[in-house]
Amino acid sequence: MAETTLDVRGMAKAEAWAQVEAQLAALLDGMDDEIAAMATISCVVHNGFGHLWSGFYRVVGPMLLRVGPYQGTLGCLEIAFGKGVCGAAAAERRTVVVEDVEKFPGHIACDSRSRSEIVVPVFDRNQRLLAVFDVDSEVVGTFDDEDARALERILGWFAHRGVLTNPA
Ligand code: SME
Repeated sequence: MAETTLDVRGMAKAEAWAQVEAQLAALLDGMDDEIAAMATISCVVHNGFGHLWSGFYRVVGPMLLRVGPYQGTLGCLEIAFGKGVCGAAAAERRTVVVEDVEKFPGHIACDSRSRSEIVVPVFDRNQRLLAVFDVDSEVVGTFDDEDARALERILGWFAHRGVLTNPA
């Protein structure tokens, strides 16, 4: 495999996500291991965009998330459903985009530099919640619907194991 670590900073979002999705489609082609996929997605998104934190919290109990593969500064180890942005996305089973974390009641500041974030639920093929994927940025208003849709497509891998549609 001759893939290099992508850097998509400075590109328009459509192009940036197209490159990230294409690389992940190639890397995860034929893979059938959730942890390997989580580690690889965290790495490609984190190094591609250069945000503060990019990674997974896994569902490990009826109402509990525990940190999984991630890249960035030290993350909290466990988050209860309903707590913080990750817990809200898990409890509500929907993507949550927070423009300004200071305006999100109950935001958990694992790193005080975090200013905005996106958390996307991860489902298996039976629509069971497996995890959430969290990306934190040092800049207010980093994430929007375009990021939400791209991450939802990428994380669809867990429901369609081994299939990640390359939009390019
Ligand atoms: N900010 C998140 C907590 C996780 S981390 O910052 C890595 C939240 O409010 O859910």
